[in-house]
Amino acid sequence: MEVVIVPDSAAGGELIAEAMANLLRRKPDALLGVATGSTPLPIYEAFAAKVRAAAVDASQARICQLDEYVGLPSGHPESYRSVVLREVVEPLGLSESSFIGPDGTADDIAAACEEYDQALVAAGGVDLQLLGIGTDGHIGFNEPCSSLASRTRIKTLTQQTRKDNARFFDSIDDVPHHVITQGIGTILEARHLVLLATGEAKADAVALAVEGPLSALVPASALQLHPHATVVVDEAAASQLKLADYFRATFAAKPEWQGI
Ligand code: PGA
Repeated sequence: MEVVIVPDSAAGGELIAEAMANLLRRKPDALLGVATGSTPLPIYEAFAAKVRAAAVDASQARICQLDEYVGLPSGHPESYRSVVLREVVEPLGLSESSFIGPDGTADDIAAACEEYDQALVAAGGVDLQLLGIGTDGHIGFNEPCSSLASRTRIKTLTQQTRKDNARFFDSIDDVPHHVITQGIGTILEARHLVLLATGEAKADAVALAVEGPLSALVPASALQLHPHATVVVDEAAASQLKLADYFRATFAAKPEWQGI
């Protein structure tokens, strides 16, 4: 696992956007797995700026979703489908046909989960999957004690996650209890995992995920199993890392051509 400590979220966004651009330069129709929440927004801004400046051609890029609320009406502005279309797909000038995601409105949620796992495989697998981390260590919506081998399935949110996400809704009562999430096993099949974490509130979860034991209690620790996982953190989110100086020295000594 590579850990990159950046001065702030804008620098993290730029670093990751450049990695996405490099991927598209090599593979124009790469499948980019995107995450929702506040943390990845600087990535999407930096990436869209590169596209507008013609530094990269994203016209053949494909976008897929990490997780989704269950039970929000179709087209609800906070459904993750709506969020991804608004924050990622439209700013890149892509159409909805470039996008795949699980159906949180399906009558048969179990079938919708299975179909989504199959759709990811049929699309050739995810080339680069962006991840955030919950204050409880979740990735996607894989809450603590999720199986490290899990596939896309329905999960119940912890009360902490519902509190964390209440800011997107009128009240916490409006935050759904149930979600569909790519499983940890599904996430680990992506070719490159890139987790961005910013702010003090994420520092404990980051330290446990990066330096703690592999444990279902900290789902993000599953990144330790992946051959190409990059964790990008600002100084605040890095503040509990014991090996911070080593991570800084390693990145500073890295040849620029190598990327992340
Ligand atoms: P956040 O969410 O970026 O809004 O903090 C991250 C997550 O819950 O995975």
